[in-house]
Amino acid sequence: MYVCVCNAITCRTVRKKVDEGAASVGGVFKAAGKKPQCGRCFPMVRSMIADHAPACAGHDDIDSGLAIAAE
Ligand code: FES
Repeated sequence: MYVCVCNAITCRTVRKKVDEGAASVGGVFKAAGKKPQCGRCFPMVRSMIADHAPACAGHDDIDSGLAIAAE
């Protein structure tokens, strides 16, 4: 599932970057080589960092599928 639609960052990527040590929204973007744009993904990224990324559990099967915009 896409967490950040602007940068096509998936939950898998966020989880990987958090596992590698990213501890902030900015850290996740930097580690992914992306720059924040609209900011709509920030709450989800923060939640994944706080929970150490289980927020997308069960959605790995659609990581490469259609973009799902957070409403
Ligand atoms: S959805 Fe992440 S910056 Fe826009």
